[in-house]
This record gives sequence, C-alpha cells and structure tokens, in this order.
Amino acid sequence: MLPLLADGLSLLADGSSTFFFPPEESTFAANVDGLFDFIYWLSAAFFVAIVAVMIYFVLRYHQRAGHVEQPSASHHDILEITWSVIPSILVGFIFFFGFTNYLNMREPPENAYEITVAAKQWSWEFFYPNGASSDELHIPAGRPVKFTLQSADVLHSFYIPAFRIKMDCVPQRYTYSWVVANRATNEDTSDGDAKTNDDHSPYDLFCAEYCGQDHSVMITKVYVHEQGEFDVWVENAANYLEGKSPAEGGQLVFKKKGCTQCHSIDGDNSAKFAGPALNGQWGTERNVIPRGASSPETVVMDDNYVRESVREPNAKVVVGRKPVMPAFTPALLKDDEITALIAYLKSLK
Ligand code: CUA
Repeated sequence: MLPLLADGLSLLADGSSTFFFPPEESTFAANVDGLFDFIYWLSAAFFVAIVAVMIYFVLRYHQRAGHVEQPSASHHDILEITWSVIPSILVGFIFFFGFTNYLNMREPPENAYEITVAAKQWSWEFFYPNGASSDELHIPAGRPVKFTLQSADVLHSFYIPAFRIKMDCVPQRYTYSWVVANRATNEDTSDGDAKTNDDHSPYDLFCAEYCGQDHSVMITKVYVHEQGEFDVWVENAANYLEGKSPAEGGQLVFKKKGCTQCHSIDGDNSAKFAGPALNGQWGTERNVIPRGASSPETVVMDDNYVRESVREPNAKVVVGRKPVMPAFTPALLKDDEITALIAYLKSLK
C-alpha cells in the first residue's frame, strides 16, 4: 500500500513544473514536489475548514439578548479520539515519506560517477576523475552522479533548484550529495521561459548560504550531456591548455578559476571588485604591505610577484585592499596554469 501511496504522491506533482519550483529535472524532484504539495494542500484544506467553522460558531453563538450561557462540556471521548488519531496518521504519513526520501537522497549508490565540488569565496570549481576541472558543472544524464563537497573558507551551500538538491559545504570536512539528471540540456544559454524550460537551457546552481561580500555572485550553470557527449567534453576539459598560445590559455585559466569575480580587466577599480584591476599593470610598481610589516613597500609586478600573489595572496597585500583572496595551492592551480596566467596578464593592455 505504501508504494501505491508514493505513486499517488508523485502524481500530485504534475511532472514538469510547479507553482513554487522550476521544472523537475532529476529523479528526486517528483517525490520532493509530491510531498511538498501534499503538505501544502493539507494545510490549505485545514485552514479553510477551521476558519469556516470559526465563522459559523461566531455567527451561531455570539452573545445576544435572551440567549442563556450554557455550561462548558468537560470532555467528549469520540471527539477527542478523532482529533488525536486523524492528525497522528497524517503526521506519521508525512514523516514516513519525508524520512525515506531524505535517506534516499543522503545515500549515493556505489556505481555513481564522482565529482568533487570546491566552494570558496566566491566561486565554484568542479573536479572530475580524469583531472579536468571547470567553473561550470557538467554531468552525464541518466546515471547517478555523486558530489563530494568541500569549502576552502566559510560555510557555503550547494543548491540546484531544478534537481531539488541542496547541501552545505563545510570547511574542514566533506559532505555529500547525489543526483540522477533526467535529460540533457542544450549548450545554448539564451533565456527561454524559465517556468517551463522548454528550450532545455542549462540549470542554475546557487550558493544558498550567506558567505560574505560577494555571496550574490556565487552562481553558475549546470550542463547535462548524453553520456557520449559528456565523455568528449571531460576529455577536452582535461587538456584545455593544449594547442593554445600561453596568453589564450591564461585567459581560460583566468575565467575558469574565478579570477573574474574579484579582478576587472578593463581598469574598473570600484568596490564591485574586491581586488585591483589587472590590465596595463605588467612591469608597473605598486605599494604593498608585506606580511607582518607595518609600513608599505614598493614592488614591481613581474613573474615572481604574480606567482607569489597566487600561491600566497596574503604575503604582500596591495595598500587599500583587504586580505580576502584565497590561496591557490598546487592542487587548485598547476604550475603551467600560473605560467599561462602570467602570459595573459602581460598581454592585457
Ligand atoms: Cu558561498 Cu554564499
């Protein structure tokens, strides 16, 4: 009987989109929406029933001339059993489906494809088993994908509304989530109707936990590919510097690693960007405060300064800037990526 009820619950959600959520794009979505809708309509029905009875009582029993007050009833067995048993059954039902769905969403299957999700202030990076990494999430359709979540600094929350999954990224520990995406998306990100998503555009991925100044820009896209297409993508992503000039490669690194969130390349030094603009800076002098020192000193922006600023951003912080840049360890940024980055910075006029 319970599986039958579960089917009924899923049917309550219409299978595409709901009033409250974007279209259902994972195998979890119908269950989540079914239970949500059940609780919602149950609450709505009780609200209407209770208010209706209340209004009826007010009209029927309000004080008026010639009306004699009756003594209060002490108890009524049938009434009391009814109002205890029915809500208990409803609550038990909600608990059962809430808990079983929750357990299912907590336990990734063994054969899942594994992707590491690294959250940091204020960007996402995704690492694939073959060494590829990306700043937008790419996954294959129709098979379980397990996410191992980590944070480099503070609490973030990995949230993909179309899949109905959300999980905290916690510093100093790993958390997990998983999903089976229903169908492939198009590469085209041009905006169709978000409510129906009939053009299959890529899904939004949000940080759902306030994590500092630029929390609101910690947004990226989720692309779902057919397996064959995904294999090609992940292979190319692993060799993304191949066949490119160092400056072209550096431009890709700059975007992929989220540098654009904090550094403009058009001279914009406004508060919108946490770090200084980087165009036209190569070979120029800048005032910095070396770690532990109280007075500024002058350094030239050259290869070694850039390298140090990437690996150990707080070693020399530009005067007037806060020490907010995360350190890019060799695991996050390889040496050849730094070399490409340097070529790119040289090329920025
Ligand atoms: Cu990361 Cu909010």
